[in-house]
Amino acid sequence: MKAIDRNIEKISIYYFTGTGNSKNVASWISGIASKDGVDCRLFNIATIDRLNISNPDPDALIIFISPVHGFNYPPVMLHFIARFPKGRNRVVLMNTRAGMLIGKFVTPGVSGITFYLSSLFLKLKGYGIRALFPVNLPSNWISVHPGLNARTVRYIHKTERDRVYKFTRGILEGKSDFKALLELYDILLLPIAVLYYLVGRFMIAKTYYASSDCNKCGLCIKECPVKAIIKVDNRPFWTFRCESCMRCMGSCPKKAIETGHGFTIGFCVIFSMFLIGLFYKYFGLYIYKIENETVKSIVEPLIFLILLGGWYRIVHYFNKYRLFDRMVVYTSLTKYKFWGRRYKALTPENIDNIDD
Ligand SMILES: Cc1cc2nc3c(=O)[nH]c(=O)nc-3n(C[C@H](O)[C@H](O)[C@H](O)COP(=O)(O)O)c2cc1C
Repeated sequence: MKAIDRNIEKISIYYFTGTGNSKNVASWISGIASKDGVDCRLFNIATIDRLNISNPDPDALIIFISPVHGFNYPPVMLHFIARFPKGRNRVVLMNTRAGMLIGKFVTPGVSGITFYLSSLFLKLKGYGIRALFPVNLPSNWISVHPGLNARTVRYIHKTERDRVYKFTRGILEGKSDFKALLELYDILLLPIAVLYYLVGRFMIAKTYYASSDCNKCGLCIKECPVKAIIKVDNRPFWTFRCESCMRCMGSCPKKAIETGHGFTIGFCVIFSMFLIGLFYKYFGLYIYKIENETVKSIVEPLIFLILLGGWYRIVHYFNKYRLFDRMVVYTSLTKYKFWGRRYKALTPENIDNIDD
């Protein structure tokens, strides 16, 4: 057994999680560190007042862990890091990203600019980056791909947990790890990450709805880590604050929360065929006159989002009628068995005690 880096006597882990992958990583690290006598504290950033973040323990190694959303940390984590107090601690940045399985090989997810942007923020605040480490856990984004089966989910958990254990031992022995920087293509994803941050996430926030299977238990509202779901007409309603973390879909006991592929595509078609034209006809003369492409590229997405918000409200209203609800439900891929397996990270018992 190699010597432990005696400089590390304390670790503070700040994590954000939607469906539990990042929380699992935090507790795997904490388990190993605590066994070595390191005082390891976990902070769930969803429960911290992000306008008033306490100074970190100056002697602690700080670890940030969060899922990747749209080739970057989700806004909630980015804003947390941006507002994090200045300090001189050593920092480890970790993400959990979409792992899939081919044979016995866990394919890596894509980090995009996750590490670059946050490292920059933290360097400017005086911190020293010690390691960058991505963890490929099962993808939870069932809005865009079919849910993974139970065997795959368990296999990925086991494999990646071993990687996290090995990495943690390395960190405790005083090693650095910057192999993540070898994924050079990540930087090419910068424009998509920016688009996701500015427009994509708001659009996706308006794709969720509760079908008539909803029994109004309110769990989704209670569990939402960013308090983005409210009650409108006594039914759950997703606001633009939603980070698409998938917790609501993964934890709804009735599996009543769906991604509305049909009504979202319907809106995009109507918007590009009619709405944007109508807008220009009646309100857009000023934009046409100045013919400034930069202004247009800011104004058009803005109009898109405002009208999408209105469209979503209309769909929400009509969803109380059974026929309309069924139309929306049957044009949602998440309703179908081949696609709609919900995702929740496994608990330690479920990872170890079930035979495949
Ligand atoms: C809205 C959204 C966007 C995502 N974008 C990416 C991505 O850009 N790259 C990637 O590898 N995984 C992506 N994923 C997959 C998640 O990062 C991954 O499943 C993560 O482990 C979930 O962690 P959590 O359970 O802690 O929320 C995305 C998932 C969601 C819901």
